[in-house]
Amino acid sequence: MAYIPTPVTVVSGMTVDGPVAMVVGSFVSVSLDPPLIGFFVTHGSMSWPALQQAHRLGVSALASHHDDLARKLSRRAPDRFARAHWHYEEGMPPFIRDAVVTLTCRVESVTPAGDHRFVLCHVESLASDTSAPGMVFHDRAFAQPGPVTARRTPARVSYLTPLETTD
Ligand SMILES: Cc1cc2nc3c(=O)[nH]c(=O)nc-3n(C[C@H](O)[C@H](O)[C@H](O)COP(=O)(O)O)c2cc1C
Repeated sequence: MAYIPTPVTVVSGMTVDGPVAMVVGSFVSVSLDPPLIGFFVTHGSMSWPALQQAHRLGVSALASHHDDLARKLSRRAPDRFARAHWHYEEGMPPFIRDAVVTLTCRVESVTPAGDHRFVLCHVESLASDTSAPGMVFHDRAFAQPGPVTARRTPARVSYLTPLETTD
């Protein structure tokens, strides 16, 4: 599965104790009409019970320049989101600043799926900023998508540019 590229999104919510968020690679667009998205949450997640209390959830799809942030968020440290650049707006979930796509949604259903649960959400609003490329997770590394240059390369076709590791 590590060789199947996934998006890097942050699912966030505002609770009485402040913002809660987790990195989610299983984000999927489910339906346009009605507008539905979904993602899978592991049963071991400590963040999900708090996120589920939030009135609305936010999803921020990270841009390639968020690589430092993505590495920080991947750690299990409880304060991993403390230095994230949040965008706050009254009545809205917090978003990661300069994300490629941000959307707000409400949880419609939560379905058990093995050691995960599938969370289906109704999208209420969506915005995009295409000034920077999005980020993907591939082969256990953060990368940015690029054009496929050679169509008939036999063994390995490299179409992802690894993002430099700074730590
Ligand atoms: C690139 C990436 C993608 C991830 N995707 C998911 C995911 O789809 N679902 C999930 O439950 N956890 C995913 N995780 C792990 C969570 O972000 C988080 O580390 C885990 O839920 C433990 O933190 P928590 O106990 O605070 O929830 C992903 C982590 C990374 C770095």
